[in-house]
Amino acid sequence: MASAPSTTTPKIKGGVAPIRPGQGHSFFLRRLHSLTGIIPIGLFLVEHFFSNAFATKGPGAYSKQVEFLSSFPFVVGLELFGIWLPILYHSLYGFYIWFRGESNAADYPWMGNWMYSAQRWTGAITFFYMVWHTWHLRFSGVHLLTYPASAFGKVQAEMIGHPLGIAFYAVGIFCASWHFAYGLWLFAAKWGITQGPIAQRRWGYVCLIIGIGFVAVGAVTMYSFLSVKQQPYKPTGSEMDSFTMR
Ligand code: HEM
Repeated sequence: MASAPSTTTPKIKGGVAPIRPGQGHSFFLRRLHSLTGIIPIGLFLVEHFFSNAFATKGPGAYSKQVEFLSSFPFVVGLELFGIWLPILYHSLYGFYIWFRGESNAADYPWMGNWMYSAQRWTGAITFFYMVWHTWHLRFSGVHLLTYPASAFGKVQAEMIGHPLGIAFYAVGIFCASWHFAYGLWLFAAKWGITQGPIAQRRWGYVCLIIGIGFVAVGAVTMYSFLSVKQQPYKPTGSEMDSFTMR
């Protein structure tokens, strides 16, 4: 006798599957993608928010911090290998994972698909924000490695009188904070650091606090730039003569 067709819908297994060996190149590439999100990009994000928070102590303190960072030996090499190349890899592979449409929604048990999409969209928005932000502050206009004292005024010039600039900063800070905070949660689950629903739930609350902390620090920092009178930031004639790209 033929058995009746099953009426139950197939269940997606809950929890986060660890990344396993035996998945060809993609095992290594996915581990690298996951790791670069924390080291070095996540660490850089922490340093970047912290350094920018010196703006809360005024233009003088902010300039000193930018001068300190600019004084590192091999600073361009550090930027290239410690920031730009890892971000480029994580971003391009992130877009590849997205457009390949790998169905790993089961990796996202917290509100499932919604968090899955949010992780992709916040990554994409952060990407376009970073391109815009680094182009304006690092690669065009006054060269801040040469003139760190111009940094406060240069950031202000991006925002003061430019509502769209302010909005883009706010959105960029929010998206980077969200993406990193939920990324910490994903990382811990995928690398087997949080095993089981209780540990994952508890770590989830910690990540939520970390995310809120990032947004709060970013908002207070933005307020500092907006509340101080616009500082002069263009070097004078003779200083400009020695303008060189390092
Ligand atoms: C501020 C810069 C960024 C930081 C700190 C960061 C950090 C992270 C972290 C920690 C994770 C979790 C790793 C894991 O899934 O195991 C992650 C995941 C992810 N990131 Fe980023 N990321 C950044 C920018 C980007 C950009 C620009 C994209 C481009 C779309 C992107 C796309 C992704 C995707 C798609 C995932 C999820 C991977 C998956 O579900 O398997 N990220 N990111």
